[in-house]
Amino acid sequence: MKSIVILISGRGSNMEAIVRAAIPGARIAAVISNRPDASGLAFAAAHGIATSVVDHKAFADREAFDAALAEAIDAHRPDLVVLAGFMRVLGDGFVRRYEGRLMNIHPSLLPAFPGLHTHRRALRAGVRVHGATVHFVTPALDSGPMVIQAVVPVLPGDDEAALAARVLAQEHRIYPQAVRWFVEDRLTIAGEQVRVRDEAASAAGWTVPALDPSPGGGC
Ligand code: GAR
Repeated sequence: MKSIVILISGRGSNMEAIVRAAIPGARIAAVISNRPDASGLAFAAAHGIATSVVDHKAFADREAFDAALAEAIDAHRPDLVVLAGFMRVLGDGFVRRYEGRLMNIHPSLLPAFPGLHTHRRALRAGVRVHGATVHFVTPALDSGPMVIQAVVPVLPGDDEAALAARVLAQEHRIYPQAVRWFVEDRLTIAGEQVRVRDEAASAAGWTVPALDPSPGGGC
């Protein structure tokens, strides 16, 4: 049985998708938030998962916060730490401590659009495809070996909310998939890349949902 700790900062819909996936061989040991008002905490508690808050505002600097967070995580002796909408930048020491067992989901097709406001920036840039990436975390912001990506179209008339919703639906598919692969010991980090053992074509490391065939589109 692999033990997983999930870190959230807010809504926690990705955490919810992972919990609902009920991955065989995985136990969600705890959900930890850096914000006391994170609404995802209620879902976790209602599902019998231990919850705690390590409020970043209570610490003088990032090192002190990172140390307290690591202590809260390590109490559960996790095999995997999952960042699910965790909106604090973590220091190098913290990231190295969990090297190879710290995953994040980012709402863009990395390496495009690291950082914040990815959907707004994608719309502004006029990209035709956008998406989400699950990756292992390295000290550089929103970088690290990629496990799986999902691609969505950017459609005429999209606003930030519409595009975010389309991407989020795919996040909820790929994050449980990435965690499942980890739990099944199928992921190997080779330099900057991740190899997925026995990756079936149907569950490839990237995925394009069926496009809505809109009249007049194409070519
Ligand atoms: C998700 O879209 C996730 O990709 C993004 O925050 C949202 C959290 O939603 N994460 C980042 O931007 C991290 N850089 P959720 O709380 O409902 O899972």
